Amino acid sequence: MRKITIAIDGFSSTGKSTLAKQIANQLGYAYVDTGAMYRAVTLFAMQNGLVDQFDFNKSELVKRLPEINLQFEFNPELGFAEMYLNGTNVEKQIRSLEVSGFVSQVAEVSEVRAMLVKQQKQMGMAKGVVMDGRDIGTVVFPDAEVKLFMSARADVRAQRRFDELTEKGQLVSYDRVLENVLQRDHIDTTREDSPLVKAADAIEVDNSELTREQQFDQVMEIIKNKL
Ligand code: DC
Repeated sequence: MRKITIAIDGFSSTGKSTLAKQIANQLGYAYVDTGAMYRAVTLFAMQNGLVDQFDFNKSELVKRLPEINLQFEFNPELGFAEMYLNGTNVEKQIRSLEVSGFVSQVAEVSEVRAMLVKQQKQMGMAKGVVMDGRDIGTVVFPDAEVKLFMSARADVRAQRRFDELTEKGQLVSYDRVLENVLQRDHIDTTREDSPLVKAADAIEVDNSELTREQQFDQVMEIIKNKL
């Protein structure tokens, strides 16, 4: 069967990565979580004192981008690839609310985007890839055979994120999570470079009222028609 490229974009906490992993497993494709790459760059900035709640030293981060090495390594026990920043597994750290609080600012920087988009294009060159993010169908793979645009109501997304974080033992309030979701929506959709927009040929999936299984079945139908 011919291999295709599947691009999944959409708002934060719409279950893009869950869906992408399901599809990749089903088709035997590689899965690339581009949000993890922006998160890892953000973690690098935090670790080096380049971003905190008062300040963001953009020019210094841009200068130091060549020091950042990002690698995905497949973890067979988990069934997906984990993010390594300069040789260290940072999968847990990059999912914290602290990183989530700074990542949109870092993702606004054109030099950061250019570096990551270049790496993403290389990762998808051989096709047979499911990639999720904000600009995959518009910038990274404008020729992707399947483009999905995921959405869900903000309160539903905040509840999902809140459950996820509490399950991991993080002490957070629902209101703070909702605030972060809304703030990221705003920054992601209004930034100058590659804002989150639905590609003209993307299929929108609103999963506010869908179970994971219902969503997966719907999407696999779309994909099978393209294969
Ligand atoms: O998908 P996520 O929530 O892990 O993404 C983290 C942040 O990175 C998100 O606020 C927007 C940014 N991002 C981006 O700008 N472009 C991408 N392709 C992926 C993520």
